[in-house]
Amino acid sequence: MSTPSTCERPSAERAAAGRRTRTATQAQALPSGPAASRQIIVSNRLPYRVDVDESGEVSMTRSAGGLATALGPLHERSGNLWIGWAEDAGERDAAVAVRMDAALAERACMPIHLEEDDAALYYEGFSNSTLWPLFHGFPQNTHFDQKAWEAYVRVNERFCDAVVAVARPGDVVWVQDYHLMLLPSLVRAAVPEAQVGFFLHIPFPDYETFRMLPWRAELVHGVLGADLIGFHAYDYVRHFLSSCRRIAGLENRTGTLTVEGRLVQADAFPLGIDYERFRHAALEPAAQVARSEFADGAGHGGCKIMLSVERLDYSKGVPERLRAYRAFLSRHPEWRGRVVLVLVTVPSRENVASYQALKAEIDELVGQVNGEFATLSWTPIDYYYRSLAFESLVALYAASDVMLVTPLRDGMNLVCKEYLACHDGGGGVLVLSEMAGAAYELQEALTVNPFDQEGLIRAIERALTMPEDEQRRRNAPMQQRLARYTSQKWSCEFLDALADVKSRQEAQRARLLGPSTAQRLLDAFAAARRRAILLDYDGTLMPFCDDPAQVRPDRALLDLLCRLGSCEDNAVVVVSGRDKDTLEKWLGDVPVGLVAEHGAWLCDPSRGAWRLQEPLPDGWKDGVRTVLTDFVDRTPGSFLEEKDCSLVWHYRACSPEVAERRVIEIKGMLSDSLADRGLALMDGNKVVEVKPRGANKGRAAHRWFADPSYDFLLAAGDDRTDEDVFETAPEGAWTVHVGDGPTAARFALKSPYEMRELLEALARRSA
Ligand code: UDP
Ligand code: G6P
Repeated sequence: MSTPSTCERPSAERAAAGRRTRTATQAQALPSGPAASRQIIVSNRLPYRVDVDESGEVSMTRSAGGLATALGPLHERSGNLWIGWAEDAGERDAAVAVRMDAALAERACMPIHLEEDDAALYYEGFSNSTLWPLFHGFPQNTHFDQKAWEAYVRVNERFCDAVVAVARPGDVVWVQDYHLMLLPSLVRAAVPEAQVGFFLHIPFPDYETFRMLPWRAELVHGVLGADLIGFHAYDYVRHFLSSCRRIAGLENRTGTLTVEGRLVQADAFPLGIDYERFRHAALEPAAQVARSEFADGAGHGGCKIMLSVERLDYSKGVPERLRAYRAFLSRHPEWRGRVVLVLVTVPSRENVASYQALKAEIDELVGQVNGEFATLSWTPIDYYYRSLAFESLVALYAASDVMLVTPLRDGMNLVCKEYLACHDGGGGVLVLSEMAGAAYELQEALTVNPFDQEGLIRAIERALTMPEDEQRRRNAPMQQRLARYTSQKWSCEFLDALADVKSRQEAQRARLLGPSTAQRLLDAFAAARRRAILLDYDGTLMPFCDDPAQVRPDRALLDLLCRLGSCEDNAVVVVSGRDKDTLEKWLGDVPVGLVAEHGAWLCDPSRGAWRLQEPLPDGWKDGVRTVLTDFVDRTPGSFLEEKDCSLVWHYRACSPEVAERRVIEIKGMLSDSLADRGLALMDGNKVVEVKPRGANKGRAAHRWFADPSYDFLLAAGDDRTDEDVFETAPEGAWTVHVGDGPTAARFALKSPYEMRELLEALARRSA
């Protein structure tokens, strides 16, 4: 497997930057909200569907589904608005179209109208014939179509125009789902200071699957325009972070990434339901009546009811469930006439070929099972192909003894949660696929592997015979959790986390050594009599490269160090982890002090002999070398470096996941044996180093920090080993971390280039 070691950049990256303008037409459709900051929800579908009857009368219905419900309360808060595709492509009288838009605008919805061809390529094409199947693990259903991709780009740009037209400073733009993965970075390019959240409601696949997409880099960079990226489950977060690392070269710390200097967080927020709404609805007299009518009539009298409800989608595992049910009835004749499977499939994406094929397959399977087992008084499957109104759905949930939710893959699945809410405080058995995101939370359910027919048959039997008290015992903790972690809580937690990212970005910005702090530093430097300047080499003065031997100093750096070092008021010291021979070879002609191997060796600017600073433990290298050499052999791309006092395992060019595992293994194997030999294992930037315990840069720096004749101290570095310097620096010292991530330094610069600029300014003041 080849691992891209350099970052992949989207071909048309940030093409939109600077291109966008506010289109007044869209802005006009909206009610004018208060000047305070608002939430702008952006999703493919609007939360309302507008219809127009033959007489031209416009009517609105709420869109079904978890997203509309989850974000409903947030949307209804004054001033907030929802942007989505109008989906009304058909021929419309212009006046009717205006009325339809106005009806939506009254409900704070801003419709986007798409050309019919673009809409088809974007929705049925790239969204539902490329992203949906691939992300759900159906590569065989996945189409790779350049035209569909181009439409997807265009439509995301249209959405961006709409957002930019209405967004005001301080607004939060919350982008939903796989239809709009490019939108966060498009909005970022148009409004760099925007607060953007992104939530993916489907699984994020592992890298091996995701890499199949020719547009993988564009999609990853598209999403990374957001400040907070949410998923339903932590496994999806892991997969996303793995793709960020491999495709964009971005490392993360507990889900925090730095994207072009901007902090971005990825995290899991499992979507809940409006628990009380379902619980109450199930207790309504009308639901109770409908429930008993359903349970006793329609040929179900005396039967246990097993329910299945979902959009007709190949990810939901309907054929597999039907085959398992058929096998169950064959093997358990005692259940014939005593159980009914109520199968509700909701029409979905009917213009996509794979959905049409699935419909035909399900129709046929239902026919076969009913043909094989039905009697004059009993039909094993009661099949509906339509969408149910909320009240009917609730009555059905409440009437069912068993709920079968066995998707082959599902980002979350809300139906199983709704079923439990409709049985609040009572029994009812939930059979749940372990491939649904909900299974992470609903562990007391009867979990099944949907591909395991034998397991499904056993689960059906177990569900039908489970004692009532066990049903209640299992349900109670799940119901309590669902009642607490509701859809509203979900949206609040996401928005709180987004605000938290914003304040962390603010703190990060505040630490950046901006022009005014830099000026204070320069003034302090100019006013000082003696100055000590301690500089790390790799990552601070020079950027990294896969082969450390290639990072020799360029002319400009040598010249800069020369000018700084020749001023007799300056003590300039390069404090490096490199071996002394390399430092001597590269910097030997420059009038700066050299500290090698993290403080083990020291050489004055006058270039006398190198002096050993720490006692060298003896006789340890052979054993450690054998261990590390074994790791080199097992880990392509890694190599061993041997210095006087230390052994270093380098893994910059390795597959990051493998390297991460190996580092843990190395630590596990060596840590204990090193401690009593005066050695320590140290993490550097893509290296693990075994070295004398006493040798660290902090100790080395102490001789300058402790010398009272220096009235200006500057220390700069980029990695873990430089933190020792920052931690020992006296108060008032100018400590500068180069790069991102947590640090004990007071200030930060983004790159070695910025560091060099600062040193240039110091050199000019030294002249
Ligand atoms: N639903 C509905 N009418 C129906 C069937 C389902 O309104 O006839 C709703 C159901 O209440 C649930 C949503 O559709 O909130 C389905 O969400 P889920 O996450 O289970 O599956 P998805 O369709 O999003 O893949
Ligand atoms: C999934 C997706 C949603 C989508 C819903 C219904 O839940 O994550 O974004 O709205 O399915 O699909 P549809 O194509 O009808 O909008």
